[in-house]
Amino acid sequence: MTRYEILPAVLAKTSEEALQKLRVAQDCSPWFQWDVMDGKFVPNATWYDAEKVQTWTIRSRIELHLMVRDPGRVIEAWRNVPKFKRAVWHIEAPIDHEELINTCKDMGRDVGLAISPKTSLLELTPYVEFIESVLVMGVEPGFSGQGLLPETAERIRQIRNLNKDLVVNVDGGVNAKTLLGLAKAGAKRFCMGSAIFEHAFPSDFVKGQLERLEHARESR
Ligand code: DX5
Repeated sequence: MTRYEILPAVLAKTSEEALQKLRVAQDCSPWFQWDVMDGKFVPNATWYDAEKVQTWTIRSRIELHLMVRDPGRVIEAWRNVPKFKRAVWHIEAPIDHEELINTCKDMGRDVGLAISPKTSLLELTPYVEFIESVLVMGVEPGFSGQGLLPETAERIRQIRNLNKDLVVNVDGGVNAKTLLGLAKAGAKRFCMGSAIFEHAFPSDFVKGQLERLEHARESR
């Protein structure tokens, strides 16, 4: 049975903000998601300087959420960051996905594909057997603190039907109110930004939400 996971979503505009959020994230979970935004693919830009990150002592594993037009360039730049373990880029990116999936695997990293709210799930079909997870966006990518789009749970259900082995991850608008409905729809991995970083006791909050998920699973 697939374990539930909650990944803090680190969206940082400066190295100082990244370091501050990373310290919180590492107390919450063995994984966190690094929001990488280039200001072109999405109307926002974040800090993601791998040369600097390489010098940091990081305990948790990193999933890069690549909201960029050229994910291959960022993945290459992060090659020497030891805790970078999974690359998740957008199916909407104008690249050869099959080629980058193979490159990433050759680099010893896991691969996921992210899909934005308006994109047809059929775009994923050619790749689902070659990837570890699908990141379903619950909001238009680019900013933290947005409300979950109502159609997200149905999109999760439809992706579950694409391939039973896929881990479905959901990102954007995930919080204590929306979590159980998304889990019921079939999501097993949850990225949270504001729900964690605006909480007074982030690690207690994450622990409590994981307990809620398990309790809800038992009573289903
Ligand atoms: C959205 C980002 C999300 C976002 C999550 O553009 O990819 O990771 O930071 O923030 P919340 O959980 O506040 O919606």
